[in-house]
Amino acid sequence: MKQRSQSELINELLALAEGIAQKVGEFLSDRPDSFDINQKSSARDFATHMDHASEKMIVSAILAARPNDGIIGEEGAHRDSASGITWVIDPIDGTVNYFYNLPGWNISIAAKDEEGVLIGIVYAPTLNSLWRASRGGGAFLNDRAIHCSDASELKAALIATGFSYDLEERVRQGEKIATLIPKVRDIRRNGAAAVDLCHVASGAVDGYFETGLKEWDLAAGGLIAREAGALVTGRKSAPAGEAMAIAAGPTLHALLTDEIG
Ligand code: IPD
Ligand code: CA
Ligand code: CA
Repeated sequence: MKQRSQSELINELLALAEGIAQKVGEFLSDRPDSFDINQKSSARDFATHMDHASEKMIVSAILAARPNDGIIGEEGAHRDSASGITWVIDPIDGTVNYFYNLPGWNISIAAKDEEGVLIGIVYAPTLNSLWRASRGGGAFLNDRAIHCSDASELKAALIATGFSYDLEERVRQGEKIATLIPKVRDIRRNGAAAVDLCHVASGAVDGYFETGLKEWDLAAGGLIAREAGALVTGRKSAPAGEAMAIAAGPTLHALLTDEIG
């Protein structure tokens, strides 16, 4: 039997992820009158019944189409892969925004293979924005190719960041912002890491950094930013991970890494 090409696989994964994200986006846009809340790592860190319902919908739709794939979901979904593909899901990135009915919350769905993230979709219904990328295939916002900004000076750079749910980490983040803010154009805290990364991808901000991100925060948005020309790394250019993610075009990335990395 003829082996499926990599591009056929990519197209299948992208179409599946996009269809699911749109369906779940519609479901989440119909906001409930009240929320059941469960506290996670601290009083600041919680999930709602909608986070769990979203993850359940995403996982069952993936497994209906591709029963041998693995799953890593923020709200606890976990399954080993028998196909070589594992999905990395943030069922609502920006739960606090969602809870307060602020824009920017999104559904973030990525699929990875043994070489890393292969496809990523970030869908933010309140921004009318669907970002998409595949490894080596470029990055798109609502079907238009996007590129990160070519900002080359900190003083003319708009930088997004986020704050951890961990109190001690938050204090350190505050100190870092205090030293950075006089040196940059301004700081934005949008409340959704995946959209922050996509904003780097489309040039809506020049750079983004945050400590304490998890794999599901970074998987789809990180690929989208890289495919749009940005570098997405950790401290001193180590791979982006839980410790630190710095995303920006190459020149600004070097300046930001010197400043905060
Ligand atoms: C959070 C958001 C927030 C970022 C946090 C993330 P969640 O994700 O992306 O902007 O600052 O680090 O944990 O918990 O809403 O999925
Ligand atoms: Ca998240
Ligand atoms: Ca989440």
